[in-house]
Parts: sequence; C-alpha cells; structure tokens
Amino acid sequence: MVLIKWSRGVAIPICLFGSVAFGLPQSTFNVAGPVAQAQLDLFWLTFWLGVLVALIVGGVLVYVIWRFRHRGESAPPRQVHGNTTLEIVWTFFPVVILIVIAVPTVRTIFETESRVQPIGEDLMVRVTGYQWWWAFDYPDLGITTANELHIPAGRRVVLQLVSADVLHSFWVPSIAGKRDLIPNQDNQLWFVADRPGVYYGQCAELCLGAHAYMRFRVIVQSEEGFEAWVRGFQQAAEQPLSSDPQVVRGQQLYLQKGCAGCHAIAGTAVGQPGYPNLTNFGQRLTLAAGVLPNTPENLAAWLQDPQAIKPGNYMPDLGLSDDETAALVAYLLSLGRDGSQQATFGGTYGH
Ligand code: CUA
Repeated sequence: MVLIKWSRGVAIPICLFGSVAFGLPQSTFNVAGPVAQAQLDLFWLTFWLGVLVALIVGGVLVYVIWRFRHRGESAPPRQVHGNTTLEIVWTFFPVVILIVIAVPTVRTIFETESRVQPIGEDLMVRVTGYQWWWAFDYPDLGITTANELHIPAGRRVVLQLVSADVLHSFWVPSIAGKRDLIPNQDNQLWFVADRPGVYYGQCAELCLGAHAYMRFRVIVQSEEGFEAWVRGFQQAAEQPLSSDPQVVRGQQLYLQKGCAGCHAIAGTAVGQPGYPNLTNFGQRLTLAAGVLPNTPENLAAWLQDPQAIKPGNYMPDLGLSDDETAALVAYLLSLGRDGSQQATFGGTYGH
C-alpha cells in the first residue's frame, strides 16, 4: 500500500512533467528540422544506453544484496579480488558502450558543423543581437526585420551571428541547437525547417536586464508564401498610407514625437541602426521582442509605459496622451496590412 502510494506520488509528477515538456513550444522534443532531429537522436541514444546501464548495475546490486544477505553464517565469503573474468567483463562492456556513443556523436558533430560554404540557393541572414532584441538582415533581399525571422520550409538557412554589445545566444529549440553571438566575432549557424509554422526562439545567454524577454519567432512558410512575403516587404515603401484620419495623424505623431529618430520605416523614416526596424509592423505577431501578442491593446500599453512591460529596456516613455496613443497604434498597425486582418502565418506555434 505504501509502495503504491509512493509510486503514484512519483509517477504522476513525472507524467505531468513529461507531457508539459514534450508539448511546450520551446521544447527540444518538438523537432521540426534535420539539425534538431540529429541532436535529438543522439540524446535518445545516450539516454537509453544510460537506462540500460542503470538497470544492469541496479539489478546486479539488488541481486547481490539479496543473494548475499546475512543468514547466520560466521565464515567470511569466498574472496574474488583479482578475478580475471570480472576484470575483463567490466573493462570490455564500458568500452563497447563508449564506442557505440562516440561514433554517432562524432558523426553528428561533423554533419551539423556550423561553418558551411554557402551555396546559391541558401537563404543568407545576418543576425545581430542587441540588448534585448534581435535584428534580422537579409543582405541579398534588402530586407531588415526585428524579432521575427521569416524563412522558407525546406531551404537551408545560413545565419551570420554577431552581437552589438554583450554575449547573446541564438536558440530555436525545435529547429537547431544554440549558437552564441559574440562581439567582434562572426559566428555561423545553419539549419533547415521541415514544415511551415511559427517556432519560438529565445536568447539563451544571460545578457543582463531584460534577458528573459529577449525572445523571437521563426516564421516558416512555404516557398511561395515566403516569396510573397519578400515581395510585399520590398514594396513596403511604395504602399500607400491608409486614408483613415487616425492613421494620418499617427504618422505625423511618429515623425514629431521622436519615434522616427530611432525606428526606421521604409519610405517614412530612416531611423538609426541599433533600434528595431518597424517596416510592415502591422504584420508582426508580437511586440517588444516576442513578449506580447501584437494587439491594439498591448501596443497601446507598450507605448504608454514600456518599462512596466519589459523592465530595463531602452524604449523611453514619451508621455503620450490616450488620444495620441490611439493614433500611433492605428498608424503602426496599418503598416503592411492589406485588410484589417493581422497576418497569422498558420497559428501561434508549430509542432
Ligand atoms: Cu540576449 Cu540573453
């Protein structure tokens, strides 16, 4: 009875933890690409070999404790020190296990080797880590985004990773392992995403202040969906502004209130490097580096008190009135939208 209670007490939390860990969007078990798959395969191999070793060692231990329990004899047991058979057995089997782990480990290391020679059809992206957001530049396409990386499914993506300030680490658990962003050093990472969806990313290196809020999304689209997104982005500067008076007023406020001094918007403001580019901002799924869904209510709250949402960030409180905030929200959310609908790119996250 005690044993049943105890086993339930252990089994239920383990099952709950398992289902949560396997189901969450930032779980390395929700694999969506060959690099993450190779890394997960290696994990399972070492995990099950570890289970096997634990069962054998634990089994032998339990057997010995039972078999050689004290039964009243007073003579010492037979001494086996220096037993050649035992010495050979416990040297041979660990060597075999280490070889079984080492061969696929070394092969995976070389297969997922981060430095590759880019070829013509690769999608090249330069990733810059800032405290506490991400800039994504597509040098061949003339596109700059922030915190949302659009890529086509099935095509290799080669990322050049740099930091503008301190150490950061780029991590999309479903698609590939981590790679650090280091000031004054170009790091590289490549991966392929298998299927469309929205995948969660996170800075995985403590970078002070708002590190936990330095998130991003990888939006994987079909090749046609990605091409359409590229064309839409490249045409952003020519897209006419909505004639809605709120939107027009919002654009004026954007230029007057100082937003334009930092944040670029194609066709409207050149901004400065080091601040998120807001071109086609209305298409963004999230705000403040992946912290909040990009809704009018959240955007208004963010503009009025950025520190309350993401403590430590460098966005100033501009002292906007409710009226001004509403106009800015209308303007920003109109950017890049052809209707009143926010793009969804197929759900909150992919599995
Ligand atoms: Cu950037 Cu942690």
